[in-house]
Amino acid sequence: MTFKDRRVLVTGGAGFIGSEAVSQLLKEGATVTVLDNFSSGKMHYLPTKNKRLKIVRGDIVNEQIVDKTSKDQEVIFHLAALPFIPDSYYYPVDFFKINTVGSMNVLWSAVKSKSVDVVINISTSEVYGSAQYTPMDENHPTAPYSTYAVSKLAADRAAFTIHKENGFPVVIIRPFNTYGPRYTQPYIIPEIMSQVLRGSKELSLGNTNSSRDFTFVSDTVNAFLKAAQEKKAIGEIINVGSEVEIRILDIANKIAKIAGVKVRIKRDESRFRPYDVNRLVCNSRKAQSLLNWKPKISLEKGLRITYQWAKKNKVAFAAPFTRFYYKNSR
Ligand SMILES: NC(=O)c1ccc[n+]([C@@H]2O[C@H](COP(=O)([O-])OP(=O)(O)OC[C@H]3O[C@@H](n4cnc5c(N)ncnc54)[C@H](O)[C@@H]3O)[C@@H](O)[C@H]2O)c1
Repeated sequence: MTFKDRRVLVTGGAGFIGSEAVSQLLKEGATVTVLDNFSSGKMHYLPTKNKRLKIVRGDIVNEQIVDKTSKDQEVIFHLAALPFIPDSYYYPVDFFKINTVGSMNVLWSAVKSKSVDVVINISTSEVYGSAQYTPMDENHPTAPYSTYAVSKLAADRAAFTIHKENGFPVVIIRPFNTYGPRYTQPYIIPEIMSQVLRGSKELSLGNTNSSRDFTFVSDTVNAFLKAAQEKKAIGEIINVGSEVEIRILDIANKIAKIAGVKVRIKRDESRFRPYDVNRLVCNSRKAQSLLNWKPKISLEKGLRITYQWAKKNKVAFAAPFTRFYYKNSR
């Protein structure tokens, strides 16, 4: 299957990863509809003048809007969610409403539409909790730490059940940490870049010894598109990550080097959070064999692209957001 002239819905398409999906899909010739409530997504992240792009401002919690928008779509990439883990500590009910019930609406609308050939449900590596072994494959136990991760796991399991019960084609993708331009949330790389861009001489970070696996956003999205095109992916859970483990301390040093600044790095214990996982490292063998997917952008190159974008567009978060980001920013 190619995307040329296919009708594709991207929920959360105005967000960080969603806007990259929209960009790649338009390049592939798809006719794209974005459903987004713009809670963190940005209109200026979208090529609004493109005639093959339709933008619907709406909430995935609203069944009628989701039904109406899903009608006649052929492929759905479901990304809309509240994704910032610390917020879920303060707004757990909202996270369940949007990430779990909202996802149910998207999935069930797709089943009812009779036109949708496949839903790509975007889950997260956070469903695994901290690594019990590395690298982490799809059989790694799920032991989510945060309410965010629980709300995403519930949606991911519901997607799987809808596939099993209705024979409905669903693919579940579990991306590990993704970074790149057009970020919207103070995830760790945007947070470090923000502090550097604010001119801080001392970077104040949480557990700098914890480690993650970072994938550049165009590579992550490329896996989503491949998953939609591969029949063998239906009903499968697929991890997407670079397989490169790096400590937060080393990421901070790399960013400082790219920015050409000398900084001290402070391990700020007040930023340690009970819901932070210590270690996430992807085993992406399944994505490699089933989807013929491999990341193309190295961490150094990706960080450089992201930093240049943030500097040029002056996208530095004003303050460290360890709490209340969701309500205060909207
Ligand atoms: N960024 C990562 O490292 C990462 C890793 C794994 C999984 N994910 C998942 O990828 C998806 C996208 O995350 P992101 O990092 O691009 O975050 P993001 O905040 O930029 O994207 C989320 C988008 O969903 C929209 N949205 C939120 N609530 C909505 C609602 N109720 N109705 C309609 N639209 C709504 C937002 O406006 C935004 O455009 C999420 O599902 C997230 O859980 C992200």
